[in-house]
Amino acid sequence: MRQKIIIDTDPGQDDAVAILLALASPELEVLGITAVAGNVPLHLTEKNARVICELAGRRDMAVFAGCDRPMNRPLVTAEHVHGKTGLDGPVLPDPTMALQDRHAVDFIIETLRSHPAGSVTLCPLGPLTNIATALLRAPDIAARVQRIVLMGGAYFEVGNITPAAEFNIHVDPHAADIVFKSGISLVVMPLDVTHKALVTAERNAAFRAIGSPAAIAVAQMTDFFERFDKAKYGSAGAPLHDPCVTAFLLAPDLFTGRHINVEIETTSDLTMGMTVADWWGVTDRAPNALFMGDLDAPGFFTLLTERLARL
Ligand code: BDR
Ligand code: CA
Repeated sequence: MRQKIIIDTDPGQDDAVAILLALASPELEVLGITAVAGNVPLHLTEKNARVICELAGRRDMAVFAGCDRPMNRPLVTAEHVHGKTGLDGPVLPDPTMALQDRHAVDFIIETLRSHPAGSVTLCPLGPLTNIATALLRAPDIAARVQRIVLMGGAYFEVGNITPAAEFNIHVDPHAADIVFKSGISLVVMPLDVTHKALVTAERNAAFRAIGSPAAIAVAQMTDFFERFDKAKYGSAGAPLHDPCVTAFLLAPDLFTGRHINVEIETTSDLTMGMTVADWWGVTDRAPNALFMGDLDAPGFFTLLTERLARL
């Protein structure tokens, strides 16, 4: 049976690749795509989500706009990484497919209530504002979510937007705190894993060689996106953070991790949004997340390249 998923996202080049991988994969039934403010403001993330659906030939996909700012803090964006549009790199046409009228949070709540309990997976690729708002507004949905597979946080890599925090969690730590305390089964793709999903020159060439508009756009997006991490970390190419979420749904054996306790820092200015991950089991706090630590990178890129060729 196909896995039913909702992708909650702030595209973002790596979000775009995560969405394309999902839309290329028959094992997944994408019930809808919900946009949130994050890498760039909401009016751009919802537009970018539609741009990507059209690139995948999926004008029929339902795209919803959600929360335009974090729950308790001003929005922090990442144009310095993703460019002014959030999708800098390829020149892609403005979307002509419509944005849905319903608010993303209403869509999430109604979808979870109208499907059998335990049959829908949430896949957050950005700040957790939409998900936490839905959980606050409709606490009954927590018991209906199959699981949440998200990109966010870090342990060994510590932080990318501050010395202590990863971007998605830092932008809305209060939302993250709600999600991590929700009791829902969580799978977390932290920077420790996503910094191993690097688009080397060879991997980029493999995308480009597919020759389709979607694959060429992915090569151009990762070309653009890599300059930041190359300059900052001296890494071999762009890290495909968010596609780790989609790849996990398709091939969980590519990843290894530990079922541990993860708490979110919400009070200290210095470490706001830090994921305090008990990787070494030094507390007796109950495990609440499968926190990934390693990735089979060649296997990940084989899967991604093979799927992109189907679009
Ligand atoms: C996360 O932040 C965003 O910039 C990326 O899209 C990814 O979701 C990585 O920290
Ligand atoms: Ca993202």
